[in-house]
Amino acid sequence: MMIYFAPMEGITDGILRRTHQEIFGGVDVYCLPFHKLTHTLSLTTREVRDIAPEENRGLTVLPQALTRDPGQLREWLRYVADLRYPCADLNLGCPSPTVTKRGRGSGMLRDPDALRAFLDSVFSAPLPIPLSVKTRIGVEDPGEWPSILQVLSRYPFEHVTIHVRTTREQYTGGIHPDAFALALRQGLPRPVYNGDLRCVRDVADLLKACPGTDAVMLGRGLLADPALARQLQGGSPASPDELRAWYTALYRGWEQRFQHTIALGRIKKMAELAGHDDIQQKRLLRRAESIEECIEAVMDRKE
Ligand SMILES: Cc1cc2nc3c(=O)[nH]c(=O)nc-3n(C[C@H](O)[C@H](O)[C@H](O)COP(=O)(O)O)c2cc1C
Repeated sequence: MMIYFAPMEGITDGILRRTHQEIFGGVDVYCLPFHKLTHTLSLTTREVRDIAPEENRGLTVLPQALTRDPGQLREWLRYVADLRYPCADLNLGCPSPTVTKRGRGSGMLRDPDALRAFLDSVFSAPLPIPLSVKTRIGVEDPGEWPSILQVLSRYPFEHVTIHVRTTREQYTGGIHPDAFALALRQGLPRPVYNGDLRCVRDVADLLKACPGTDAVMLGRGLLADPALARQLQGGSPASPDELRAWYTALYRGWEQRFQHTIALGRIKKMAELAGHDDIQQKRLLRRAESIEECIEAVMDRKE
């Protein structure tokens, strides 16, 4: 099974990716959070640092772009190819209203004909490197998926990651594995399942519901249990020492790059996304002023 570490803006930077690989491993591809493209193709300092080869040494990474402009996308793909990355990803999944109201991210799913025109233009000439795509299954309603799937099936994407929710559903509530099953049944090449895989059991259930699944993307599940990918590859669960080493290394890395408050804020945000959310633990985390107190709050649940 091929395992992708989901891109999570503000969390899965080079420090997290390298630390994860060193301590836990099990992930085949680490996905970079999106670069928001502009007409000048001027990336932010943070985006340039995140995609730099020295930030990703020893890792297989997949850079990602957010744009509705075929020219911008092609130019960015040339830039990514020059950095010697073998593949890059297009974001059709971001549900943030500031992004979708400009018709980008999952806003591009609203009009399948416009999406088709955009992709016709993108693929009108050979691309510098293969392109993959990460999508949702609709904007308002999962009933939109068959027409979106039909459009995506027309193009030679390297793979298609499907977050089985609509834009409206954001990141919580019901998921629609049936949408993934439909993609498998219709023979979409290299579909990657994404959404709410939190433990080994969840993946086993997915394989039962959607036999033929051979690639998954894990996001919050890996924040909750950073050894999840390793376990899916037949390895051992995280030990308390590994978990302590993980949080400590992340904190040290972020503290050096930013400063104490931001580093601690990121650890707390990770814990929140991981769903470490019983009331007592939330209180402990909120009050924590040092990495040791944060670790105590998180490990409280783990041990
Ligand atoms: C804080 C945060 C930031 C995210 N940033 C990105 C991003 O930059 N690009 C992207 O394609 N998805 C992004 N996502 C979506 C995740 O990659 C993933 O699709 C989502 O968390 C569902 O997978 P999960 O249930 O395994 O967490 C983000 C999600 C979160 C919670």
